[in-house]
Amino acid sequence: MKRYNISIIKGDGIGPEIVDEAIKVLDAVAGTCGFELDYKEYLMGGIAIDVTGKPLPEETVEGGVLNSDACLFGAIGGEKWDTLPRELRPETGLLKFREAMEVYANLRPAIIYDELVNASTLKPEVIEGVDIMIVRELIGGIYFGQPRGNDGFKAFNTMVYTKPEIERIGKQAFELAMKRDKRVCSVDKANVLEVSQLWRDTMEEIAKDYPEVELSHMYVDNAAMQLVRNPKQFDVVVTGNIFGDILSDTASMVVGSIGLLPSASTGDKTAIYEPIHGSAPDIAGQGIANPIATIESAGMMLRYSLGEIEAADKIDAAIKKSPKRWL
Ligand code: IPM
Ligand code: MG
Repeated sequence: MKRYNISIIKGDGIGPEIVDEAIKVLDAVAGTCGFELDYKEYLMGGIAIDVTGKPLPEETVEGGVLNSDACLFGAIGGEKWDTLPRELRPETGLLKFREAMEVYANLRPAIIYDELVNASTLKPEVIEGVDIMIVRELIGGIYFGQPRGNDGFKAFNTMVYTKPEIERIGKQAFELAMKRDKRVCSVDKANVLEVSQLWRDTMEEIAKDYPEVELSHMYVDNAAMQLVRNPKQFDVVVTGNIFGDILSDTASMVVGSIGLLPSASTGDKTAIYEPIHGSAPDIAGQGIANPIATIESAGMMLRYSLGEIEAADKIDAAIKKSPKRWL
């Protein structure tokens, strides 16, 4: 029987409970589809700070997640750790983790379930049939740019992208578009930022290799507005780290709830699968957190990292049948 090594990082807040639900679903489909999953748990985030003093212990990456077939991750963070120096915060652990895993492409699909068209705050006719793939650059841009600092009077960060960084995320977006509706919308702020001009010029160059794909450009402020005004116009959206962070939260509300958007963080090594939402400490431990985004992320893991398509399809079908409360 096929066996896969899966790294599990539950994290903080609702992380443990949503990941536990996803593991139940994974075990159920593994049983019926004829493969086995071996799980190994690793620490990251606030819990890692409490146990080891560091938000990302060395053993989590080296000899840990890097050696597994895929990683399922819940969420990190919480008020308890918000006053720590930045290098010790849970979020810093997550960013270091993404960097160490070299997962430069974060795929965040926003798909509307028919059952949900009335649950969204937007009108049904606006959201019916929405199927967007946000391709967010994950290990560059202003999140990682140097120099950065805060001396109490002046604080600064740097938004920086090199051409190769833009090329690799751009290619991912065009490849995905070839398997979808063959449209890429690149989101930037080229009317103001040099870094966005290079982004835009590079996207134009990549487009020459994909004559079947229609490339358009949109400024990020307009994109935020268009996502809510007419989300159906989008197929693949490719954008930098911070714009992708913001636009994917908006996209989650377009399809009904932030508890519904899964994601896959991929590069050339082990991929990480995680819901796009945070650790929601305010509702942790009450059994009311929506586990669907994590279960969908587990489905993406089966599909993209393990090639277990039948099992992934079963998860998608089961989600559609799940009670409206979760959808
Ligand atoms: C996300 C989150 C993270 C991010 C935080 C927790 C650092 O908002 O995955 O979207 O900004 O990337
Ligand atoms: Mg976010």
